[in-house]
Amino acid sequence: MQTIQVKDKKFVLSIPEKEILEQVARVAAEINRDYAGQEPVFLAVLNGSFIFAADLLREITLPSQISFVKLASYDGVSTTGKIREVLGLNIDITGRPVIIVEDIVDTGLTMAHMLETLEGHNPSSIAICTLLLKPEKLKVKLDVKYRCLEIPNDFIVGYGLDYDQYGRNTRDIYTIEK
Ligand code: IMP
Repeated sequence: MQTIQVKDKKFVLSIPEKEILEQVARVAAEINRDYAGQEPVFLAVLNGSFIFAADLLREITLPSQISFVKLASYDGVSTTGKIREVLGLNIDITGRPVIIVEDIVDTGLTMAHMLETLEGHNPSSIAICTLLLKPEKLKVKLDVKYRCLEIPNDFIVGYGLDYDQYGRNTRDIYTIEK
């Protein structure tokens, strides 16, 4: 059993790179088919999606653009309470089909907030494309149209995902040792 140490925790190999790349290619083919004749804008959510986005985009054959974004939330001086903003959005998405590229959907709250904020920019459509989904943890109703792999409710690292900002730099995905 292949294990790695990330800071104080041990992780066990759970999804080899070959399997990840096969699923990334499958999802990219679905996007190429579904968006034929369109020019989607990919919005890759930093930090965790940087490796997934690089592999996914190289399988996309459509004319397309990509922006690397972050979701910022802060308490504003407004009656509506929390203000949310997408940082790094340097492409005008008005009237464009948007595909959000996320590393992992866990509770789904991050994606729910992202959708709400992006809708304010009036894109023609928004779809979520995630590398990983933990279906048991989902707390909100969310349409995750493109998903590479579904995983159990365990903490994972690798292929861009971190534990305390470490462990992003492995080719395979590892699950925390119980
Ligand atoms: P959500 O808002 O609960 O869906 O959380 C999504 C974010 O939590 C992801 O973009 C990741 O940054 C982080 N996250 C959730 N589960 C894991 C995990 O197992 N490993 C590493 N990061 C995770």
